[in-house]
Amino acid sequence: MPESRAIQIDPSINGRIAVVTGGAKGIGEGISRVLSAAGAHVVVADRDEEAADNLAASLRSTGADATAISCDVGDTAAVTAAVRKIGSELGAIDLLVNNAGIGDFVSFPQISRERWDRMLNVHLTGAYNCCHAVMPDMLKRRFGRVVNVSSVAGKRGDFIGNAHYTAAKAGLIGLTKSLAAWAAPCDVRVNAIAPGIVDTELTREMSQSHQTTTISRIPLGRFARPDEIASVVLFLLSDASSYVIGETINVNGGSYLD
Ligand SMILES: NC(=O)c1ccc[n+]([C@@H]2O[C@H](COP(=O)([O-])OP(=O)(O)OC[C@H]3O[C@@H](n4cnc5c(N)ncnc54)[C@H](O)[C@@H]3O)[C@@H](O)[C@H]2O)c1
Repeated sequence: MPESRAIQIDPSINGRIAVVTGGAKGIGEGISRVLSAAGAHVVVADRDEEAADNLAASLRSTGADATAISCDVGDTAAVTAAVRKIGSELGAIDLLVNNAGIGDFVSFPQISRERWDRMLNVHLTGAYNCCHAVMPDMLKRRFGRVVNVSSVAGKRGDFIGNAHYTAAKAGLIGLTKSLAAWAAPCDVRVNAIAPGIVDTELTREMSQSHQTTTISRIPLGRFARPDEIASVVLFLLSDASSYVIGETINVNGGSYLD
């Protein structure tokens, strides 16, 4: 597997306030670290307060500015309060990454209404809550970048009937396109990524046989590392992607090509 590459300070990211939801662990941790290395003041927004505090402290120990905030993205009032707190203590939010998510590897018959609601609430309502609280100010300031973390499952479906996850991730692609077209005239760019399987706590919940079958369907023959996903998020948040809006970029080792 290739080594993670060193990230340089990026003038279009440097000094920006970047909120990463679910930013304390897994892919979110990778995104927080990469954005911090590129010069952003990262706000690690996670429902796991201890993990968020630890990561923010670790980023600060490198000389970066970083802040932790405890927040459940599915709770509209909590998101509104968190965004107000960030605004009054740190300043306007420039970059938003809607990454918080959960896994629930069951097939369609096991998806009770409660499981369905929980999945949609974290992934889709969570992204709505954050965009709704943050984007009006971005439009007013005529600056902002948003990246939604969808999934290969949202484009292709999945093989086990994990329909609540797939539906939530497909919904994020629609949300991305709609917000992108609406916000672009005010120089606010919205995009998404669709990772394949990434080696994180979430995927370690998959059974061994599910993991083996999944790897056999990936042309690169392995799961991704979080930093390989994070570098594409960095691209979408930076000026390197200045003419890209409403896209959902595959980062999947070839497991699905469209
Ligand atoms: N791991 C993969 O293979 C994979 C593939 C495609 C997409 N994704 C997506 O990437 C995102 C991150 O996944 P991961 O694998 O890093 O998961 P993870 O379980 O390793 O980390 C998820 C993080 O989100 C936080 N979180 C969960 N629910 C939250 C909530 N309601 N509010 C705030 N924070 C919350 C957790 O505390 C944790 O820090 C998810 O949206 C997931 O669906 C993951």
